[in-house]
Amino acid sequence: MSIRVLVLNGPNLSRLGAREPDIYGTASYDDLVRVCHEAAVELGLEVDVRQTDDEAELVSWLHGAADTHTPVVLNPAAFTHYSYALRDAIAMRTAPLIEVHLTNPAARETFRQISVVAPVASGTIAGFGLDSYRLALRAVATLLATGAR
Ligand code: DQA
Repeated sequence: MSIRVLVLNGPNLSRLGAREPDIYGTASYDDLVRVCHEAAVELGLEVDVRQTDDEAELVSWLHGAADTHTPVVLNPAAFTHYSYALRDAIAMRTAPLIEVHLTNPAARETFRQISVVAPVASGTIAGFGLDSYRLALRAVATLLATGAR
């Protein structure tokens, strides 16, 4: 039986394709979901891909992941830069969690150059568009294989 990985997406990511395409590209949220499923098949994983604009829902999904030792790929979107609630939920993790971004926030506005979640994630992958998700799922598979988190 393959391991299930939660791929969680924060606010405004459902708008991909229509949202500032010069920054985020023209791929849609459905494309993002498809890429995750394709990558999971290649890696022998299962993915459950979700999106919410609600911080409380994201926190509750992270609690569920901690309770079930489920690995997570997380694009916290704007919450990345200021949500201590999300940071504290991630700090309780019991399995690998990779922070992922489509763009490279370090090369953008000053407020995006801080991630309050990075210090409690297993690692961060940013700047490769939808490939960031492929790379993050690969990182999860590697961490699971080595038992690291
Ligand atoms: C993002 C970067 C964030 O700064 C922004 O608020 C997002 C998307 C990314 O994937 O590049 O919503 O997380």
